[in-house]
Amino acid sequence: MSASSTPVDERLFAFIQKQTIAEDAYLRDLRQAARQAGLPEIHIAPEQAAFLQLLLRGAGARTVVEVGTLGGYSAIAMARGLPEGGRVITHEIEPAHAEFARQWIARSDQAGRIEVRLGNAIDTLPTIADGSVDAVFLDADKEGYVAYLGQALRMLRSGGILLADNVLAGGHIADGSGGSATAQAITRFLAAVQAARSLRSVIVPLGDACLFGVKE
Ligand SMILES: C[S@@+](CC[C@H](N)C(=O)[O-])C[C@H]1O[C@@H](n2cnc3c(N)ncnc32)[C@H](O)[C@@H]1O
Repeated sequence: MSASSTPVDERLFAFIQKQTIAEDAYLRDLRQAARQAGLPEIHIAPEQAAFLQLLLRGAGARTVVEVGTLGGYSAIAMARGLPEGGRVITHEIEPAHAEFARQWIARSDQAGRIEVRLGNAIDTLPTIADGSVDAVFLDADKEGYVAYLGQALRMLRSGGILLADNVLAGGHIADGSGGSATAQAITRFLAAVQAARSLRSVIVPLGDACLFGVKE
């Protein structure tokens, strides 16, 4: 580790969370309603939502593609970072998740700016035109990440942003034991990222860690 690095332990992480802009009441209610509706609690962390929103705003992104909608938490957070006329196209394979998300999006301040596409993203992403997207956020099945990377590099314009969640695989990415199926899938994804000559990236350790890349 370099002398200028500060490993983030639980105490420091709690401090970081306190310094982050607070989650608003609507997203908090959405999380609670999603839990009551039986959706898995695998949405991004509030500090990650703030990071994505600010990043998209800073980059001036207008068109964002998400893979993995769940209840719409991250889609609403990201849409809030887009200018007038901006939109999020989010992909979800589970009809119950898509239905919950559509209802909460329709009642949110981002109604009309987020489209939920139901189906396997492997089948639905190819309908999006080459070079037409400013940012892509991957947050679905990890086994699909390598294929989604290929789609992302096709859809993104030059200078577009790639974001991918869970790139530390719950902390198991570097445990040296061969890892879970998820850790193995993420390892294959990170190898594909390294091999992609048109992408430059870093890992940001927020939530379960987010890959942040820019297409050349
Ligand atoms: C981690 S959750 C997404 C959380 C969401 N991005 C958020 O933070 O609010 C992953 C979602 O991806 C969906 N999913 C899994 N495989 C998929 C696929 N092949 N195509 C589209 N969605 C998929 C799951 O049903 C689940 O709702």
